Amino acid sequence: MKLLNIFSVLIILSLLGCGPNEKIAYKWPIPKDYPKPQVPKDNPMSEAKIELGRFLFYDKNLSANQTQNCATCHQQEKAFSEPLTVSIGSTGQSHRRNSLALVNIAYNKTLTWAHPSLDSIERQLLLPMFGENPVEMGITGYEDEVLSRFNTDKYKVMFEAAFNDNDINFDKINKALASFVRRLISFNSPFDRYAYQLQDNALSASQVRGMDLFFSERLECHHCHGGFNFTQSTTHEKQLLDRRPFHNTGLYNIDGKGSYPLTDIGLNEITLEQRDMGAFRAPTLRNIALTAPYMHDGSIQTLDGVVAHYAAGGRATKQLDINSEFKENMYKSPFVKGFELTDKEKSDLIAFLNALTDESFVSDPKLSNPFN
Ligand code: HEC
Ligand code: HEC
Repeated sequence: MKLLNIFSVLIILSLLGCGPNEKIAYKWPIPKDYPKPQVPKDNPMSEAKIELGRFLFYDKNLSANQTQNCATCHQQEKAFSEPLTVSIGSTGQSHRRNSLALVNIAYNKTLTWAHPSLDSIERQLLLPMFGENPVEMGITGYEDEVLSRFNTDKYKVMFEAAFNDNDINFDKINKALASFVRRLISFNSPFDRYAYQLQDNALSASQVRGMDLFFSERLECHHCHGGFNFTQSTTHEKQLLDRRPFHNTGLYNIDGKGSYPLTDIGLNEITLEQRDMGAFRAPTLRNIALTAPYMHDGSIQTLDGVVAHYAAGGRATKQLDINSEFKENMYKSPFVKGFELTDKEKSDLIAFLNALTDESFVSDPKLSNPFN
């Protein structure tokens, strides 16, 4: 009798769409021409988990001193990035890096600006939550206190709906947050309407000229920011190829030997391989007009500045070495070779980058702060 009851509850729950997640195929909000992302087997997507993740993402109770939530550094109107040069954690500590926009990161081959093997969103999220250098949410040492704040009737109902039991722990918090950030899907820019929905008038003439420049061999932008997600760092269900999408763009060349500032030498710090000096991941350019300042350290303020950097073949390509000779940055990618643009071409290229903004994404109430 008791067994039967549990059984019928489960059936009713799954009919309501909040039952065991494996049994209900999640419907991605993705137009049919785009591939679907891969999801870890032990954390399948479900609407209930995404909704719980949204509450957690916007809840300041998740930081030890209750001053920050994920959205402090990942703001929806900025395509889930923030306008600071580098982020500042909940205890006031500066991060050395510029906050990454959270746009289609479900497809990212690797996470963060420069890590070759950090390929799970669940693992990456441990950094802002528990990291101590720098402190972001600062949960380490305050685990019990932070968890106890979620022991409310409302959260219990949401944990139950998402996981079929209302026990509250960090594994579930992590999984729900990961599901929410996977749901940050953006495929509705004027470019998408032009390229995939074949609406010829979705782009202006200037944007079409800019698009041709972007994909030209002269500028080479598409070489590193290619594919449907405008980043080489893409993985999805139809792709098996493994390419490491890290490059040095000639942002620094401190000593004429290609060195980057010691605070951040990029991939080299982790691989210890000299050839990885100054190599960072080429991020997606979707919604790029909203995510200033730019680059891993936020050192370029505008898209104009970014284009000038590439036109110069890397803003710090040539530097005096100790013998006062100008030396090229030997680690710089050969695809950052410099080019000349007329003023008109430059504004066309920037007009195209502006066509990658998805207004519906940054105003979607399903992704916004549920406490407002
Ligand atoms: C203090 C500011 C700050 C807070 C708070 C913060 N982040 Fe971040 N986030 C960053 C920065 C900076 C990076 C880039 C880190 C790096 O490259 O080392 C980043 C990177 C990420 C990435 C990797 C994106 C990619 O494309 O690789 C994800 C995912 C992410 N954050 C999600 C979250 C979530 C979820 C939370 C809340 C639990 C959160 N962040 C809290 C600043 C923050
Ligand atoms: C060799 C590969 C490569 C090429 C070619 C390239 N990029 Fe990049 N791009 C990168 C990398 C890597 C970064 C991050 C560099 C860093 O932070 O040190 C980046 C960063 C950017 C950013 C800032 C992204 C952000 O979120 O802050 C923009 C905008 C950009 N590139 C646009 C372009 C345009 C436009 C072109 C063509 C003129 C271009 N890129 C060519 C690899 C490349």
